[in-house]
Order: sequence, then C-alpha cells, then structure tokens
Amino acid sequence: MNKQLPTVLAIDTSCDETAAAVTHGTEVLSNIIWSQAAAHADFGGVMPSLAQRLHRERIDWVIERAVKLGGVKIDMVAVTKGPGLAIALEVGIAKAKGVANKLGVPLVPINHVEAHLLSPLATPKLKEKGLKSNSSPQIQYPALGLVVSGGHTELFLIEKIGKYQVLAKTQDDALGEALDKAARMLGLGYPGGAILEKMAEKGDPSKFKLPLPMAGREDLRLFSYSGLKTAFYRLIEEQKDLDKQTIYDLAACFQRRAFEHLIRVIRKTINEVPFDSILVGGGVVANKSLRKILRRSFKKVWFPYSPKLIGDNAAMIGVAAGLKLGGGLLIADLKPEEVDRKPRWSVEDL
Ligand code: KG4
Ligand code: ZN
Repeated sequence: MNKQLPTVLAIDTSCDETAAAVTHGTEVLSNIIWSQAAAHADFGGVMPSLAQRLHRERIDWVIERAVKLGGVKIDMVAVTKGPGLAIALEVGIAKAKGVANKLGVPLVPINHVEAHLLSPLATPKLKEKGLKSNSSPQIQYPALGLVVSGGHTELFLIEKIGKYQVLAKTQDDALGEALDKAARMLGLGYPGGAILEKMAEKGDPSKFKLPLPMAGREDLRLFSYSGLKTAFYRLIEEQKDLDKQTIYDLAACFQRRAFEHLIRVIRKTINEVPFDSILVGGGVVANKSLRKILRRSFKKVWFPYSPKLIGDNAAMIGVAAGLKLGGGLLIADLKPEEVDRKPRWSVEDL
C-alpha cells in the first residue's frame, strides 16, 4: 500500500442510493450501497422527502459496514457535495462532517458527475499478498469522457484530471431519464432503464418507425430526447393491442433510437475533436447493447470494472478524491464546517 496516499471514507447520498466506501488511491477496499429504488417504485420516480428519510435511517449502518470491510484506519472523509437532490445531499454532508470531526481528519467535497466520469479508473482490492497490482488504465490526456445517467448526459474533453470541458450535453432529458420515462409509458415500473433493456432484448428494433432526434443537426452538439418521447407516446396510443411482443418491439425501437442519437452526436463531435479512446461512466453503462455500440465506435473504451461502480455508489467518490489528491488538486485542510451542498454544480466549475 502506498503510504503517501490517505485512506478515504467516501459517502454519497445524492439521489436514491445510500452509499459509503473505503478507498485508497484508485483501489476500492469496500463499496456498500443500500438502494432505495423499491421504496420509490410506487411513486414512479424518486420522492425527495422519502429519500431524505431513508438516507437518515440507513447512513450509519452503511458507513459502519464500509469501514469494517475496508479494514483500515481512515485518514480522510470525502463526500458528494453535488449535483443531486438538495435534501438528500444534506444527509451525507452532515454525517460526513460529524465523522470527520470525530476522527479529527479532513473532509473533502467531491462532484458526483466528475466521480462518474473517473469511475473507469477505479481498481479492485488486492486480496492476496503478492498479487500483481491491478493498475488503473493508462490514459493519455487529453481524453474523451462520457457520463450517461438518470440526471446527466454529457460528453467531456478531459484535459487532465480535474480539468474538463463539456463538448456536448442534453438540452432536455438525460438518457437514463428518457429510458425511465419510456418504460413508464409502457407500464414497466421503476427504475425503468434496466427493465426496458430486458424487454428490448426480445423485440424487433425495426418494427416501428421513430424519429431520430436532431437528425442532420448533430453539429450543434446537443442531445435531445423530448421529441422522441412524444413520438413514442403517440406510437403507444396508436397500438390497438399492447400485447407482450408489441411491448418488446416498442422497447427495442425506443432504445435503439435513443442510443443511435447518442452515438451520432458523439461521432460528429469526435470528427472535429479526434480521439480514439473514451472513459464512460453512469447508470446507463449497465446496458449491454450500449456498451456494444460504444465498443464498436472507439478503439479503446474504458468502463468501470464492476457493476457496483456503474450506478450510484460512494467508491467512485473516494477514487475521485484519491486521483485528485494524487494530482495535488484537492485542498485537504478544509475545515469540515466549510463544506456545504451544491445541488447544481457543473464539472466545468470545479
Ligand atoms: O448513475 P445512476 O445510478 O444515477 C444518477 O446519477 O442518475 O443512473 C441511473 C440511471 C437510471 O435512469 C436507470 O434507468 C439507468 O441509469 N439504468 C439503465 C440500466 N440500468 C440503470 N439504463 C439502461 N439500461 C440499464 N441496464
Ligand atoms: Zn449518479
């Protein structure tokens, strides 16, 4: 273990996952996630007040488990400061301040989207002595980065760790949000992205015609899903019978168009900003067909090594802290009381 780097207890309560982890540099020593998805399912989306209550109920248990499994002394606490749901962020930040004060260690604030962006650089725990180091992928900077989640769809130029430029972003819904809404229109439940994927696997993606968003205007570097959503709603209304196969076909058509649009904008952008490798993070990376399309489009694509690093988690927060500390980019002597939530926080304003 490189003694130069501190071991970090990381906490994320930005949305509907109560998460804590222990990391050291890019190494993930523990990664505990208590999903609230089932509790929000009845509402068809995240209820902020319910999220806050559940975070409060679960945060201590999640931290205790992460610390126990981590099995090391904690030198620093890292917490998601934003973006996210204000009253949910608040719970993790208050707890992080308490823990940092109690242990007498510094507290560092981390941007949740930056953490998704850097999540492919996380490395697994070295379980056995003598095991060769699982080092982080060797990335040549500047590099490209993509975050596709329930709240974000952004293509970045990573000039170096800590310095990012947005190359393309959504002008309305995020990709995950659009997939969730399409699933809801089909009555498939919440969170819909993963269920839609399962349905789409059994469907014919060319069965129905759906418009391709921003067709011919990809140079504007904007993703857009609202028109596709409206067209999808109409298409569903037109169906006389929503039998199983029709639902599979509809799911397949929506998913294909949504991904096709994403890739077309990315391709257009990389024609102008030539890169052959890309880091990809965020919940939608769980989707197998998206991963396949991205692998086809780039020579090198870096995804997080584990599904537990794809959806919301705290290990990516700790790893982002580790990478930034390694690069001398974090002020590690902040007083815990100086850290406050920032529900809207762009990665360009770090
Ligand atoms: O990163 P994440 O857990 O939370 C945010 O920061 O938003 O992303 C959640 C999003 C949801 O929209 C969810 O439906 C989507 O990721 N998602 C998927 C899959 N699994 C989760 N979308 C498509 N296919 C999946 N298998
Ligand atoms: Zn997220």
